[in-house]
Amino acid sequence: MARWLLTGGAGYIGSHVLRELAASGREVVVVDDLSTGIASRVPDGVPLVEMNLSDSNLVTVMRDYQISGVVHLAAKKAVGESVERPLHYYRENVDGIASLLEAINEVGIGNLVYSSSAAVYGEPVNGEVGEDEPTVPTSPYGETKLVGEWAARAVAKARRLEGGGLSNVSLRYFNVAGAGAANLGDTSVANLIPLALRAVTNGERPQIFGSDYPTPDGTCIRDYIHVVDLAKAHVVAAALCESDNPGELSEVFNVGRGQGSSVREVLDTVSRAIGRDVDPRDVERRPGDPAVLVARTEKINADLGWEAELDLTAMVESAWSAWSPKP
Ligand SMILES: NC(=O)c1ccc[n+]([C@@H]2O[C@H](COP(=O)([O-])OP(=O)(O)OC[C@H]3O[C@@H](n4cnc5c(N)ncnc54)[C@H](O)[C@@H]3O)[C@@H](O)[C@H]2O)c1
Repeated sequence: MARWLLTGGAGYIGSHVLRELAASGREVVVVDDLSTGIASRVPDGVPLVEMNLSDSNLVTVMRDYQISGVVHLAAKKAVGESVERPLHYYRENVDGIASLLEAINEVGIGNLVYSSSAAVYGEPVNGEVGEDEPTVPTSPYGETKLVGEWAARAVAKARRLEGGGLSNVSLRYFNVAGAGAANLGDTSVANLIPLALRAVTNGERPQIFGSDYPTPDGTCIRDYIHVVDLAKAHVVAAALCESDNPGELSEVFNVGRGQGSSVREVLDTVSRAIGRDVDPRDVERRPGDPAVLVARTEKINADLGWEAELDLTAMVESAWSAWSPKP
């Protein structure tokens, strides 16, 4: 049976990917330093190795568990923090994938699925982005995610020149939301829905950063993707890598719904989910927020046969069910 190493498997998204990989019949081993992860998200029976990616014992873990592929999610992800602490982000995210790739090479692992982000697009002129859109990240976080894609691709190329291969797929996630179970919610409170739920919990009004954008209701439009749909995309990406022989695949896919929702629409959905008006407050725009950022998803739909199934209401309702404490 195929056994995959999942880095960041104790994290919000990783814990969902873990469950979908396991449901697909693959064995999973988690490596996570628990810097933002929660050990109890990893179910009993799944090995959790508490380790930073820079730890030289990574090779031993891969050998001991006879790992055949890696899904790499372990990273720092707060855009604002990355602006304040760029070197921390370069160390954790860029040094992190470099260490991982060294270990992958040393052990001779042939499959890699990498967690990238829509942040690699920065502030595109055209709000609907395909994978061929220029990548111009506007934060150190986005830069580190893009460097990760490049590193995976470059290592794969070098291995092909040596007669080997590293089938690799980078998934550019759009705005991830929702929860697959009550104990798997997003606790980081960095994205719109957790921010709104926290405001409600604290008896505050959620903020809308900018209501004078050139969009129908004046607020920013984003592409929200349910974390369970996103997790399933990793399974089809892993299967694509496994089917690629002798390791020539190097692909990038957007993972979104291909549908935009405005900040106001999301907050209206939150009001419906919690049963009362959250009464948002309009405040100034934040620097660096593009008016519209929505994925074009034709490539992943066609090449991976993957399509998102869950809508915004499902995301908000599941996020609310997983939210604690409630007011
Ligand atoms: N949440 C989003 O909206 C979003 C959007 C786009 C991309 N991503 C990417 O998805 C991935 C997972 O994000 P998440 O939302 O689940 O975040 P998260 O913080 O919940 O999960 C990250 C996990 O990685 C672990 N980790 C971090 N650095 C590590 C290191 N150097 N060594 C070992 N373990 C380490 C953390 O302990 C945590 O369990 C990240 O790579 C992030 O960049 C997230």
